[in-house]
Amino acid sequence: MRVVYETERLVVRYWESEDAPRVFDIYSRWEVARWLGSDPKPMESLERAQVSAERMSIPRDDPTFGLWAVCLRGAEDQPLGSVLLVPVPEATDGAIEVGWHFHPDAWGHGYATESAAGALQRGWDAGLARVIALTYPDNEPSQAVCRRLGMTHEGLSRAYYGIEADLFSITRPS
Ligand SMILES: CC(C)(COP(=O)(O)OP(=O)(O)OC[C@H]1O[C@@H](n2cnc3c(N)ncnc32)[C@H](O)[C@@H]1OP(=O)(O)O)[C@@H](O)C(=O)NCCC(=O)NCCS
Repeated sequence: MRVVYETERLVVRYWESEDAPRVFDIYSRWEVARWLGSDPKPMESLERAQVSAERMSIPRDDPTFGLWAVCLRGAEDQPLGSVLLVPVPEATDGAIEVGWHFHPDAWGHGYATESAAGALQRGWDAGLARVIALTYPDNEPSQAVCRRLGMTHEGLSRAYYGIEADLFSITRPS
C-alpha cells in the first residue's frame, strides 16, 4: 500500500490496479457521476475502470498533486472514494483544484471534508497560495463540503472546464 497522507480516521493512498472493481462501483453510479466533469457520464464497464485505476495509480511528477483513494483506517482494501488536489486542466491562471468523489455508502460521515482538509494541508505545506473548488450550481452537498473547509464562495464562473460552475476558493492560512 502506498500511503500519501493520513488524517484522524482516514488513510489516503494511491489507487492500485486491483481496485478496479471498487472504482467501477463508485464511478458507474449516476448519483456520483452526474456531478463530475464537463460532460457527466456513468462509467460503462469494468474494463474502463481497470484503465482508470491503472492511470490513477501512477504518481504525478509533482507528488503534491494527485487523485487518491480515501480509506477508513483498518479497511484500506475498500476505498470510500477519491480526494484530489490537481492543477485545473488547461487553466491559464495556474489554478489548483481540490475535489471529492465518494461512494454513497460513505456519505454523511465527514469523510470528504476530513480527507480534503488533509489534501489542502498538503498543498499549503508544499507552498501553494490558493486552492479552488468547482461545483455544479445545484450540487449542494459538495458546496457544503467547501463551506466546512472554510472556502469562500466567489459566485458563478465560466473560467474553467468550459462550463458554468460555482467557484469556491481558499488561501493559505497565515
Ligand atoms: C459531495 C460529497 C462528497 C459530500 O459528501 P458528504 O458525506 O455530504 O460530505 P462530508 O464527508 O463532509 O460529510 C458531512 C456530513 O457528515 C455528517 N457527519 C457525521 N459524522 C461526522 C463526523 N464525525 N465528522 C464530521 N461530519 C460528520 C455531517 O453532519 C454532514 O451531514 P449533513 O450533510 O447531513 O449535515 C458526496 O455527496 C459525493 O461524493 N457526491 C458525488 C460526487 C460529487 O458530487 N463530487 C463533488 C463534485 S464538485
